[in-house]
Amino acid sequence: MIEAQDLTKRYAGRTAVDAISFFVKPGEIVGFLGPNGAGKTTTMRMLSGYMPPSSGSAVVAGYDVFRDSIDVRRNVGYMPENAPLYGDLRVKEYLHFRAELKGLRGREARRRTGEVMDMCGVTDMRRRLICNLSKGYRQRVALADTLLHQPQLLILDEPTNGLDPTQIRHIREMLVGLKERQTVMLSTHILSEVEKICDRVIMIHHGRIRACDTPQNLARQLRAAATVSLEIKGKGPMTGLLEALPGVRKAEQEENLNEGWKTIMVRVEAQCDPREAILELATKEHWIIREMHQQLPSLEDVFVELAASDAPPADQ
Ligand SMILES: Nc1ncnc2c1ncn2[C@@H]1O[C@H](COP(=O)(O)OP(=O)(O)OP(=O)(O)O)[C@@H](O)[C@H]1O
Ligand SMILES: [Mg+2]
Repeated sequence: MIEAQDLTKRYAGRTAVDAISFFVKPGEIVGFLGPNGAGKTTTMRMLSGYMPPSSGSAVVAGYDVFRDSIDVRRNVGYMPENAPLYGDLRVKEYLHFRAELKGLRGREARRRTGEVMDMCGVTDMRRRLICNLSKGYRQRVALADTLLHQPQLLILDEPTNGLDPTQIRHIREMLVGLKERQTVMLSTHILSEVEKICDRVIMIHHGRIRACDTPQNLARQLRAAATVSLEIKGKGPMTGLLEALPGVRKAEQEENLNEGWKTIMVRVEAQCDPREAILELATKEHWIIREMHQQLPSLEDVFVELAASDAPPADQ
């Protein structure tokens, strides 16, 4: 659906996007992540046919973004960052106007306007002036706009920016619902959202791709350690014996619970799983474990590690 090859954008001597190559398969939901200024918006504008690359190429929905940018725009639903809307139009009027701009006519334009209002939960707001809508509803109208012409691919630049948790959940559910028919590439700073809905993540920093994988694999490859938390009862130097197990970096007692139970947090070396060894040790020492839970590093840990580890290239 998207195939980018050495895609590059330079603004007045500054390289915002630096020869990035990646693909997005049909039906995928791909999260596009990176710190502020990483080059996400610039990349998305190039992929949507709204800004030509300085060099490199991208084929989007079968069309070249450079040569066939009009066809790209016809096949892509692009929601820009802070999507501009006409505040003095009513929701239905605005969407109908946009439908006509996108080439839909008469009954077809009315039908699609009704459908996208239903899909995005704005039917009850159809007679409201856009300038009187809350931010969340404005985002929904912007999303409805991108769906009008039934594009194969949605490119959404921070679609949940500034929304409250309930509205974020609504948008998330809507995107998952669209997955049957549409491919989605979205940028966001809300990492829990990405963990929940994205099949794959592309991380960009200083205009270059730094990671590209499933959210789970990214967390697994991370140097940051997993932890295993235990609720345990027994005698002897527990933390010392646990620390002697291979793959264990540190074991610390956290809390004394009642009736002799305590919680111990075991910090683990990257890519080690000492849970079996912990159970064997507990059996040998006659300890009782009533809970053992492994916590893998989160996508947030990956993000923070990535952002901290890279110095900007010399030209920036
Ligand atoms: N029109 C422009 N002219 C000059 N420089 C620009 C222009 N647009 C963006 N840039 C620069 O390009 C780089 C990438 O910007 P971009 O907006 O793509 O980042 P982003 O990843 O979308 O960031 P954010 O998370 O803040 O939205 C930044 O250094 C930015 O200052
Ligand atoms: Mg941006």
